[in-house]
Amino acid sequence: MTFSSREFRDALGCFATGVCVVTGQPEDGAPFGMTVNSFASVSLDPPLILWSLQNDSDMYDTFASCRRWAVNVLRSDQQELSNRYAAKGAHELDPAHFEPGTSGIPVMPTTLVSFECEEDARHAGGDHVILVAKVLAMTHRDSGSPLLFCAGNYATLAG
Ligand SMILES: Cc1cc2nc3c(=O)[nH]c(=O)nc-3n(C[C@H](O)[C@H](O)[C@H](O)COP(=O)(O)O)c2cc1C
Repeated sequence: MTFSSREFRDALGCFATGVCVVTGQPEDGAPFGMTVNSFASVSLDPPLILWSLQNDSDMYDTFASCRRWAVNVLRSDQQELSNRYAAKGAHELDPAHFEPGTSGIPVMPTTLVSFECEEDARHAGGDHVILVAKVLAMTHRDSGSPLLFCAGNYATLAG
């Protein structure tokens, strides 16, 4: 390789993304939330999405047992929610931040859209695992513009 891990990370940061919080509740556990920006659409028919989870995440075991979760796309003014659920050891969902979605999965009702999902496949992806999931239900609230993440910083759409 002709580049360092730092250089690779910086280069990947050129690709602007949205920011999501993945929420769920294991059968025997408390509702949780985790901030991710690796979310991507995969397929329209069937409706599939993906995101990737660090293998060394404290949440790894949670996602091994909890195969239904929701992806909530944050609004431009929800940077605080992003930081809150990106903090290590602080993934328990604040009761003020969620409600049961159509399928019973906890969703964040103030976000732009919530996709309620069931894991369909997982693929090894180096130091991450790629979770592919089928969308069971969707609530598209469409009230605002998205929070963006680029070059390690939050951003919003101009204009
Ligand atoms: C904007 C943003 C995007 C992130 N995207 C991901 C992601 O796609 N996958 C992931 O595993 N962690 C991602 N993280 C890190 C987690 O949110 C969180 O910081 C990390 O999981 C904390 O460690 P823990 O999982 O051991 O608690 C992201 C963090 C931020 C702030």
